[in-house]
Amino acid sequence: MRNTMTDDKPSSKQRVIIASNRLPLSIDKYDGNYRVTPSSGGLVTALRGLSVANYLWLGWPGIEIGETEREEVYAVLAKENAAAVYLSDEMAQNHYNGFSNEILWPILHYQSGAHMNFEAWTAYQQVNEVFADRISEEAKDGDLIWIHDYHLLLLPSMLRERLKSQNKCCPIGFFLHTPFPVDDFWRGLPVQGDLLRGVLGSDIIGFHTDEYMKNFIGACKTLIGADVMEHSVQYDNHTVRLDKYFVGIDPQKFSDALNDQAIISRTQELESLYKGKTIIIGVDRLDYTKGLPEKFLGFQVFLDEHPEWAEKIVLVQIVIPSREDVARYKDLKDEISKLAGQIIGKYVGMYTDRLATPHSTPLLYIHRSVSFEELIALYSISDVCLISSHRDGLNLVASEYVSCQEKRHGVLVLSEFTGAATFMKGGSLLINPSDTRTISHMLYKALTMENEERKANYEELRDFVNTHTSVKWTETFLNELYQLGNSN
Ligand code: UDP
Ligand code: G6P
Repeated sequence: MRNTMTDDKPSSKQRVIIASNRLPLSIDKYDGNYRVTPSSGGLVTALRGLSVANYLWLGWPGIEIGETEREEVYAVLAKENAAAVYLSDEMAQNHYNGFSNEILWPILHYQSGAHMNFEAWTAYQQVNEVFADRISEEAKDGDLIWIHDYHLLLLPSMLRERLKSQNKCCPIGFFLHTPFPVDDFWRGLPVQGDLLRGVLGSDIIGFHTDEYMKNFIGACKTLIGADVMEHSVQYDNHTVRLDKYFVGIDPQKFSDALNDQAIISRTQELESLYKGKTIIIGVDRLDYTKGLPEKFLGFQVFLDEHPEWAEKIVLVQIVIPSREDVARYKDLKDEISKLAGQIIGKYVGMYTDRLATPHSTPLLYIHRSVSFEELIALYSISDVCLISSHRDGLNLVASEYVSCQEKRHGVLVLSEFTGAATFMKGGSLLINPSDTRTISHMLYKALTMENEERKANYEELRDFVNTHTSVKWTETFLNELYQLGNSN
């Protein structure tokens, strides 16, 4: 069925099928029992702001679920409009850790040197097939299908074939939440052509920035000989539209939270605990792309260069556990813990003749997830937010921090290598994370900035965050997908 309506927007009844590896809830085993926790990371945050009423979110639940337990899992996930794509632990391990995180993730973040693993590649293909089977079974003619991120690059073409053979017309959108690198990195991957051909089965592909989109178009032209234009790629008699979209957050959710009595009380409690201190906040998944060692080293240079601040400042760094089965992530965890220990050991009480007290530590290192309420309270009591990623598709923490700063007008110190910097450089202090002296300099600048300049910068950022929301992102993307479905 094709939509015969001439509307340029889908009706509220229009169903959208979302597919991503990560679901809003993750299931794992704790003390032999299943445990359900809210998932971490930017993709889930962004999609939680989905503006459509009728949707189903399909993804991997995080663990192998036996046949007998599926009914229970179904009920838990259904509360979030989600449903599981069931995978064996072995297949998921090879797909998620083996190929997606050990091979694709570094390449997409402009890093070379990942070794190809063909067993993991086979699992990657199989998992994409399982998703294609599940979605094609589920899809009804006219549904919009929106696939997310690097775990599912082959899915658009696999799904297109299946839907065609079932005579179902469902426009397929794809959104890449990571960067897409320049040719030199991408071409080193032996299966890069298969991945490009896979994702070109979409009708629209969305990127965070022009840079990533141009790199992708360049790869399609050079590596698989596709016909390309500024906003489209034609390959195998099929044309795909490409564009950049700012993902954004739901600022209303943050302003509502700031007026919530429990969060107000917690904020007051933290303010009194940190009385006389200036807080720098950092919130990152434990990932080598986030530049955490550099952040700590830059902070150390700052403490050396500005001892007068040592007793008055605290860097509160939340590090969200992530991908703990991948060796590089385990090594990074050890490296960061060591650095944190060194900073605390060296600087606590160093510049006074008093004994060190817990209150005089310049670094609070928290290696776990925190609740939304605690996160909001921490964002709102912080004078500076420090983001030092080497590469970051977008970075939603930047927007979240801004949305909690109506009262304080805190300063955003932001890596120039985040997608967010492309849009938010106006009101931020930009850093190159490899340059610890610049980190120190920009921290000092942030801490000593006149109120008037802080306010002007904050207002510029706030206006951007308030007008580039996750609702706008989903509406824009899905309207375009819907219109394309109507015009085909
Ligand atoms: N976040 C989380 N758990 C926490 C603290 C924060 O999931 O304990 C959220 C944070 O609010 C943000 C997301 O994780 O929405 C991180 O997104 P970002 O785009 O900055 O980076 P990503 O993790 O996607 O690489
Ligand atoms: C990034 C990726 C997402 C992923 C998130 C958390 O934002 O782009 O696809 O969901 O990190 O990582 P995880 O491996 O826990 O899903």
